[in-house]
Amino acid sequence: MSKIIIRGARILGGEPQDVLIDGETVTEVGTGLDAAGATVIEAEGQILLPGLVDLHTHLREPGREDSETVLTGTRAAAVGGFTAVHAMANTFPVADTAGVVEQVWRLGKESGYCDVQPVGAVTVGLEGKKLAELGAMHDSAAGVKVFSDDGKCVDDAVIMRRALEYVKAFDGVVAQHAQEPRLTEGAQMNEGIVSAELGLGGWPAVAEESIIARDVLLAAHVGSRVHICHLSTAGSVEIVRWAKSKGWNVTAEVTPHHLLLTDELVRTYNPVYKVNPPLRTEADVMALREALADGTIDCVATDHAPHPHEDKDCEWAAAAMGMVGLETALSVVQQTMVDTGLLDWAGVADRMSFRPAAIGRLVGHGRPVSAGEPANLTLVDPAYRGAVDPAGFASRSRNTPYEGRELPGRVTHTFLRGRATVVDGKLA
Ligand code: DOR
Ligand code: ZN
Ligand code: ZN
Repeated sequence: MSKIIIRGARILGGEPQDVLIDGETVTEVGTGLDAAGATVIEAEGQILLPGLVDLHTHLREPGREDSETVLTGTRAAAVGGFTAVHAMANTFPVADTAGVVEQVWRLGKESGYCDVQPVGAVTVGLEGKKLAELGAMHDSAAGVKVFSDDGKCVDDAVIMRRALEYVKAFDGVVAQHAQEPRLTEGAQMNEGIVSAELGLGGWPAVAEESIIARDVLLAAHVGSRVHICHLSTAGSVEIVRWAKSKGWNVTAEVTPHHLLLTDELVRTYNPVYKVNPPLRTEADVMALREALADGTIDCVATDHAPHPHEDKDCEWAAAAMGMVGLETALSVVQQTMVDTGLLDWAGVADRMSFRPAAIGRLVGHGRPVSAGEPANLTLVDPAYRGAVDPAGFASRSRNTPYEGRELPGRVTHTFLRGRATVVDGKLA
């Protein structure tokens, strides 16, 4: 088995150390380790993190292979420093049976770039009417623990209650896309000053907050776990903070784009900024950053939502919602959280690896960088500065809001169980 030594990297931002990988495992961590017979990676000035874990990725296979496949999506994940992603269920067909989640799981195994944990749908066809085969998906080879109708909200309170009751039996979690459908009919962007000026249909904060309030109460009532996808408003933060203060089993994520971008960008009418939930205000962005820093928001999740050019290069009203995010996530987090002093690198490891892995109950990911642990690792050069060039993306889609924008940091190496999937910033 091959040996690799990573020389002088700062583990979670601490003092420089060497890390020896033998086969699939980290076997030694220390200074001046013997490099005999090992491939040496000089990593002075670089940060070594546990492999990143995404709780929220759209891989589009089966059914929309024109925008992404499991293979292209996991290649994009590796470039972004991820060693595990949760694949959302809004595929065609929907991942609402053991058969479909096993198909996605198998495609993930074959990809080899990143582990893929399928998410199962909560309701049949994401229609919100009838509970899907949650138990069968959990018992399948895919071992589904996270269930979500993401893209759509489980808006029926009784269905949501039943789902929470059902997953409790096997320590599963329901991940809610919080969007009250009636309050967001025809909505095109955040409801506020900008939407009033542009005359675009508004998406009020209360449409998100009312569902979150209901669901944390339901989770408390049932004694089950609920996870809130992509928090986007200051009010959502307050509700999650309150639920946590009660000791309820509530977790939450925020996307990189909601940590950086605001609805002012919609003035360009460039559909690259069209996303669900919508970009909000500067005050919301600041509240989200603070909440991620103080742990009210548990983790960063990309909501990587690839769309083909014909679904995005059109007028605002007709454009699909969503942005790709895997390949830029860590850079956006560095800019908004690390370079602002809100979070150190240990905090980044917590919010992008330890906590998302714990929420998904993933085995072998989100582990400390220490001897005996699986060698799922990400090496980052925080001093790097470069403009985002979508032409170079590993993803099949190009719908990034950061084209031409200079972002800090670059993933130089990613290791999946000791095998380099990315070397010097390029796919291995
Ligand atoms: O912007 C979004 N795109 N939000 C979602 O909830 C779904 C996603 C998609 O599947 O494109
Ligand atoms: Zn969503
Ligand atoms: Zn999503």
